[in-house]
Amino acid sequence: MNDSPVILLHGYPFDRSMWREQIDFLNAQEYQVAAPDLLGLITRDDKLQFVDEPIEGETDRQAEACHTMADMARDIEGLMDALRIERAVICGLSMGGYVAFEFMHLFPERVRALILAGTRAPADNEQEKQVRLQQVEQMLAKGMSEIAGSSVPKLLSPRTLAEKPGVVAQLREMVLRADPKGAAAAQRGMAARRDYTGDLETIDVPTLVIVGRDDPIRPIADAEFMHKRIRNSRLEIIANAAHMTNMEQPEIFNRAVLSFLRDTV
Ligand code: MLT
Repeated sequence: MNDSPVILLHGYPFDRSMWREQIDFLNAQEYQVAAPDLLGLITRDDKLQFVDEPIEGETDRQAEACHTMADMARDIEGLMDALRIERAVICGLSMGGYVAFEFMHLFPERVRALILAGTRAPADNEQEKQVRLQQVEQMLAKGMSEIAGSSVPKLLSPRTLAEKPGVVAQLREMVLRADPKGAAAAQRGMAARRDYTGDLETIDVPTLVIVGRDDPIRPIADAEFMHKRIRNSRLEIIANAAHMTNMEQPEIFNRAVLSFLRDTV
């Protein structure tokens, strides 16, 4: 077993199942991998009956919950303690990247290297926060189906949409089965997140920045912004991929990660 465990942090409103290809690949390369579900966004196994009836009196509290990026980062520290992992490579995609920034800020001594995919450092502006809060209202009132319909075409590249129906279906199902209350809490947490720009120049571990060439959500300029400011970083731009680089081009994503791990940790 390789002595650099890798922790994979998923995006929003997804769950750990988005990392299937990376878990298999890294395990085959003898890396220990942990890919937890982040707070409130739980993989529902269709074979198990999912019980999410709120306990009495919990409904209002859950409906108002805000799961901050720091809450999620603290959970990751707890997970590492439970697994007896002292230091790990922290890899986050999009919201997972925000959690990786918070983790690096709170627990720098536990980070061996960072992988930041499809994410960005600046906080939201007022208009972006409003859009998030409108989405919260929409999902609490109507569930995830409208959000799945409007988001999936933006999350995937034209090539993926045309040629990889399995990936389109996997992504759509993942969004549809997200718990609206958990997704709402994560969305509020992202709206409240701080600006990580000031953190970039303090990052002193090897960092791989990954971006999809066709990503309209977190475009190449966001990745270049981080790459320029993080001293020991490299940039990988993946063609024929948008936001979900690891699902759309898993071989290229995995190769970039493996070569980064072999060179740096
Ligand atoms: C994600 O994929 O996690 C989201 O696009 C992040 C965000 O909305 O900022």
